[in-house]
Order: sequence, then structure tokens, then C-alpha cells
Amino acid sequence: MKVTVVGAGAVGASCAEYIAIKNFASEVVILDIKEGFAEGKAMDLMQTASLNNFDTKIVGTTNDYVKTSNSDICVITSGIPRKPGMTREELIGINAGIVKDVSSKLLEHSPNTILIVVSNPMDTMTYLVHKSTGIPKNRIIGMGGALDSARFKYRLAEALNAPISDVDGMVIGGHSDKGMVPLISKATRNSIKVTNFLSDERLDKVREDTKVGGATLTKLLGTSAWYAPGAAVSSLVHSIACDHKKIFPCSALLDGEYGLSDLCIGVPVVLGKNGIEEIIILELEPADLNHLSESAEGVKKTNSLLNA
Ligand code: LAC
Repeated sequence: MKVTVVGAGAVGASCAEYIAIKNFASEVVILDIKEGFAEGKAMDLMQTASLNNFDTKIVGTTNDYVKTSNSDICVITSGIPRKPGMTREELIGINAGIVKDVSSKLLEHSPNTILIVVSNPMDTMTYLVHKSTGIPKNRIIGMGGALDSARFKYRLAEALNAPISDVDGMVIGGHSDKGMVPLISKATRNSIKVTNFLSDERLDKVREDTKVGGATLTKLLGTSAWYAPGAAVSSLVHSIACDHKKIFPCSALLDGEYGLSDLCIGVPVVLGKNGIEEIIILELEPADLNHLSESAEGVKKTNSLLNA
């Protein structure tokens, strides 16, 4: 199993690290345009192998796509991250050109690869990869909902004063401050609905804190977060690589599901060796369904900027 990660910034390097530590891939290639940067990150990470007990070989390269040849999965993290006060949507101008170029070069050397898009605005970048490459829709996955759900579980556990491993919950919709739809009514604490434990007011706070999860970190860190994004990507890669068929909310191209078409947005999907193997249709509360439609309108508005 060979995985390529494009972009050796904090998110890309964290993806590579978490994939390596889980020890299921034979090789991870990190590619960056900055001379020597990916090579340095790869060497530093390889020097953790004997300490962290992994056998995955990590290779760095400055923009040599030949080294990425025959990758089973490629992760695109390239582009500029957001700065405090910026929305993910504001990155579209620069990142669209980069993501289009990177995806076409990756496919030249790995025509059968599965692509995972992380660059922001993520739902629109995922849609752009569909439009520009034309590869089958099961092989293009946007990473957002897995991260947003991890942040949702963190906020739920905080409110419940319970361990995160006892909490389950999912965020669907667009990966944006306004567009996320945390499914409060389906969230559970060890199979008991969280609505049994928390007031509507406290749950509203959980919802709002979850939606601005990335913005809160960007303000604290001065740039966007990397540990949870890297861990979320590695979880998707793991399920695909080992054909685990786990369910994650991911940005997928919709064709009528949830009454939506011709856009990529976060919905629960089964991830296995073929990428997106199934889109799960949830029975949603009317309010959540409304929020999802509003979120889809927002994503479509950002998508329309691709042609501007
Ligand atoms: C975040 C970025 C990865 O939410 O979109 O942290």
C-alpha cells in the first residue's frame, strides 16, 4: 500500500506521521514544491520509526511526481491555509489553480489512485477535482466531516463531563463555519441520546462551538490546525487501505441523495478498497434537513466562483 501526501506543511506532515504510526502502509511519499522541505520532514519522521515502532518507509521529494507513481491513495493538502479572521471560502482563488494542477499530475503517475482532498474551501475543491479530472466519483473523497465530527465529540464530551470514547456523533453538510450540521438529535453517550443529559441551551452551545471549531484554533494558533486534520485523514486512509468499510461523513458527489445534485457535500459514506462504496441515507429531523439544504446553497455559491 503506497500513499502520497502532497504538501509537507503542518497538515501534510501530520497526515504522514499518523499514517506511518498506524503501520498499515508500506510507503508514504511526501511531496512539496519548497526545495528540500518534504525531504527534511520525511527524514525527521523516519528518525522516529525506531522510537514509535513503525516499518512504513517515508520518502520526501521536491515536486518530482515520478516518485509518487502507482500510489493507491493520494492526499491533497496543498494550497494556502487560512489566517485568523479568514473564512475557508476566501482561499478559493489561489487554491483552485493549485488543486487542479496537483490532481492532474498525480493521476498522470497513478491513474487508478483514490484522491482525498483536504485543501480549502474543501467541498468546492473536491467538486473541482471531479469536474477537472472526470474520474469515477467513488475515487474522490473530501475530508471535512470526519474532522468536524471529532470536534463535535470533543465538545459533547466536555459538556457531558464524560470520556470522549463514550460519545458518538456526526457532523454532515459543508465544511464551513456556517454550513456544518452537527446532528445533535442522533448524538449519544454510550447509546443514550445526549438530549437526555443536556439542556437545549447547552446543546446550542455545543453546536456553535463545533461549527467554529477550525476558526477557534486558527485564532489561537495563527494558522489552521493540523493534529486533528492529520488524524482524520489517516483514519480515512486506514479504512480504505485495509478495506474496513467504516462509515465517515465525507464530501461526496451527490446525484439526488438528500434531494441534492451536482455538488460535493458532507454525508455519511462507507469507505473501503474502492473508496466511497456507499452513500448512507439518514432519516433526518426536518430542522437538520433544512440546515443541510441551506448548507448546500452555500457550497453551490462557492462553487459558482470557480467559473468567475
Ligand atoms: C480545519 C481545516 C483543515 O478545519 O479546514 O482545521
